[in-house]
Amino acid sequence: MPVGSAAGASGRSFAPPDQYPNALTAMKDPPRYSLTDAFAADAYVNWASRLMAGLYPECDWSCPHAAYLDAGILNYVWRVDVPGRAFYLKQALGRVKEHHRIGADLAAVSPARIQAETRALYFLEEVLPFCCGTLVPRVAWHDVSNNVLWTEAVSGETTSLQCELLAGRCDPGSAEAMGELLALMHQASNAPCLWPSEQEDEENWERFLRMRTTGVVGSHPAGQEFDPAVLKAARALAREARRHARRGMLSHLDAAPKNVLLHPSGAVTLLDFELGANISDPAYDVGFLAGHYLLMGENRPEMRPAARRAATALEGAYRAAAGVDDGWPDRVRRYSGLVLLYRLCGSSPAPCLDPGRYDSIRSEGIRLLLQ
Ligand SMILES: Nc1ncnc2c1ncn2[C@@H]1O[C@H](COP(=O)(O)OP(=O)(O)O)[C@@H](O)[C@H]1O
Ligand SMILES: [Mg+2]
Repeated sequence: MPVGSAAGASGRSFAPPDQYPNALTAMKDPPRYSLTDAFAADAYVNWASRLMAGLYPECDWSCPHAAYLDAGILNYVWRVDVPGRAFYLKQALGRVKEHHRIGADLAAVSPARIQAETRALYFLEEVLPFCCGTLVPRVAWHDVSNNVLWTEAVSGETTSLQCELLAGRCDPGSAEAMGELLALMHQASNAPCLWPSEQEDEENWERFLRMRTTGVVGSHPAGQEFDPAVLKAARALAREARRHARRGMLSHLDAAPKNVLLHPSGAVTLLDFELGANISDPAYDVGFLAGHYLLMGENRPEMRPAARRAATALEGAYRAAAGVDDGWPDRVRRYSGLVLLYRLCGSSPAPCLDPGRYDSIRSEGIRLLLQ
């Protein structure tokens, strides 16, 4: 369903949140909930069920069941089951969930990220309708007053790419499917601003670029400082990224394995668009995901060949579907190297790394960045 005005420089436009489809425009002073515990979530879901029953009248809403998902670090995420159907609820509050253990840059991302995610999903539904519900989740309802995004649960048995990689399994077929999906998404032209203005989209992109290039080059867990050449290379890449940044290109900016679901058929679903923007370097999302494959390969050397094959398949599929500039492969490689360093010592380190592999991960990250 197309959603109206408030154009950005891209020419495309979106309505303010209270004009989204299904917004509660008629309700005066809707109640406010913070979904931080089961008691609040039950109260909220009971209240919201009456509205959801209007949108999904075929479901029995008399006894919804909410279960907390101990998933990400920023938001409160709940799964709500009604007979025969499930939804995911995601709420961003003023203070992020795990503010005590993440970097200030990440903790400062505004709760407007839920609106950014909603806009991204509505945009994809409009321009790539066949993606919706399979390649990306379908929005069920955006509860503006509580800053809660309801999405329909992606159907069928799925597993996250993160779980697969942690279990030592790495399938180049799903990497290829991700390359095609990222290419489709990037090519869906003239994406609107996901944030309230063009400038805020740009600031969001800049925030993640900084965090994952120059910002990474802090200190190693073992106390080793990075060589000045590493900082220089990270700065050079950030400069090139700004030169290649394409406006109006829907960019995920957090295409990590935890946000990818794998289906038994080999299909993939990309989740969690809250950190996205309508601008970035076309090499960024691919480099970010490729880096996670390579990270897992360095963490478990027996997985290294499969991880490298997967990274190659991801890049190949993207290139075949999207066409790239001459410097693209080189930037993908350098971004991927920085992911190894970011997940070792950046603002959102990977919890699963083997301390005995830190030095190898670090050396491989630097090699990819400087090569
Ligand atoms: N529509 C959906 N279908 C299936 N699983 C989902 C859906 N939305 C969220 N999830 C599950 O919830 C987890 C957290 O959701 P996500 O949007 O990634 O939130 P966060 O920002 O907290 O990471 C996902 O990793 C996935 O397991
Ligand atoms: Mg997530």
